Amino acid sequence: MHANSRSIVTNQHGVHQDLSRRVDRALTHPLRKPVAEHTRRAFDEARAWLSAQERALILDAGCGTGVSTRRLACAYPDHAVIGIDRSADRLARQHGTLPDNACLVRADLVDFWRLVLAAGWQPARHYLLYPNPYPKSGHLKMRWQGHPVFPVIQALGGRLELRSNWRLYLEEFAEATRLASDVVPDVVEHDPAGDYLTPFERKYHESGQRLWKLIVDLPYRPGLVPT
Ligand SMILES: C[S@@+](CC[C@H](N)C(=O)[O-])C[C@H]1O[C@@H](n2cnc3c(N)ncnc32)[C@H](O)[C@@H]1O
Repeated sequence: MHANSRSIVTNQHGVHQDLSRRVDRALTHPLRKPVAEHTRRAFDEARAWLSAQERALILDAGCGTGVSTRRLACAYPDHAVIGIDRSADRLARQHGTLPDNACLVRADLVDFWRLVLAAGWQPARHYLLYPNPYPKSGHLKMRWQGHPVFPVIQALGGRLELRSNWRLYLEEFAEATRLASDVVPDVVEHDPAGDYLTPFERKYHESGQRLWKLIVDLPYRPGLVPT
């Protein structure tokens, strides 16, 4: 396959000027959106699956086709890996049998994360691999660092790893993390060296784009989320 994914085009030149206002708002105003029924049902199924696993949890948030979920499950056989994506189409693509310690869930993360926090789950690791960039300046609130659910992502704690082909996305997430959690994560270049964790990672890298990652260890802090 010839990879020719286009680089990010943005009208933004640095961390968004409204970022701190948005993070502050998310930290002080409860997110009132009701949880969708289909995500509640999906969460209940995931909970039943996880309780039978009796292993530490890894979340693969926005897992797409679940390639990374499968790979993480093989890399961490003593963990239970839940991949979450809202796209039934992506989740339905066949990428081989799921390992016993992996589970794919169709759900909206905005709701699923809140249910995870309410249930008291504490993921050991939490992956956000190549989230949709929403590169236009006016789309800040659609990026996870500008979204009202951002404090929940922080509150879940564990080792959080983001990867992106847009460095500014990660720099902005790092700044939002500083504002919310008083930790300053580094953003470093990521060289997959041919060992691709996800299809987007492969596509971007084979198109000649540079890749970036941010890894941060966060404390479990449910009290961070306004009620
Ligand atoms: C750019 S793709 C990356 C997929 C995969 N992580 C990879 O690297 O190949 C972003 C994924 O995030 C999912 N996504 C975006 N917003 C979501 C949400 N609110 N809830 C669940 N999934 C979401 C999309 O459906 C899509 O599969």
